Amino acid sequence: MATPRIAPSMLSSDFANLASEAERMVRCGADWLHMDIMDGHFVPNLTIGAPVIESLRKHTKAYLDCHLMVTNPLDYVEPLGKAGASGFTFHVEVSKDNWRELVRQIKLKGMRPGVSLKPGTPIEEVFPLVEAEDPVQMVLVMTVEPGFGGQKFMPEMMDKVRTLRKKYPSLDIEVDGGLGPSTIDLAASAGANCIVAGSSVFGAPDPAQVISLLRKTVEN
Ligand code: DX5
Ligand code: ZN
Repeated sequence: MATPRIAPSMLSSDFANLASEAERMVRCGADWLHMDIMDGHFVPNLTIGAPVIESLRKHTKAYLDCHLMVTNPLDYVEPLGKAGASGFTFHVEVSKDNWRELVRQIKLKGMRPGVSLKPGTPIEEVFPLVEAEDPVQMVLVMTVEPGFGGQKFMPEMMDKVRTLRKKYPSLDIEVDGGLGPSTIDLAASAGANCIVAGSSVFGAPDPAQVISLLRKTVEN
């Protein structure tokens, strides 16, 4: 079975105190830190880029799981590699012509490649990337429209997760958007093993308790 990973989304953290927020999440039991990189073009929101990842890297050894909600992901590969990103997940909607090159460059720069898809994108679109000679190592199934934290989980996306899990028993399958104690059962039973959670973790009085509940549900 694929290893469970709980990845708090730093989008819900206090960006003015990113280093201490990251440290707090690691102390609370986070496996990965999910970093949402948005360009104000692919999605109607603008967040952080390589300079912030580089600064954060000086304060933590944690796996930085970067989710690129940008129109030109290839432009970000070199800067993010240099900055110390760990995972680089691009969107299939903007890489139809160059995903092979993207995957090659991401690996060359020492990062782990992943592909993500928006709710309206059919799951079949990622199959070639998983089955390629030089494949992506994770599929991120969006369970909300990308762009903002705090939205409602879309349970109908679990069909995509089930399809992937059936086809690829050991693939890392990540879900992102609206995950928390009330939705984790659906995601875990569909076969997701990497869980991104922003508002449910940062908004909880005891984030460690939420992280541990998410992990236990995925493990079972
Ligand atoms: C949304 C981002 C998510 C977001 C999740 O576009 O990709 O990572 O931060 O936040 P929650 O868990 O609050 O839905
Ligand atoms: Zn994300």
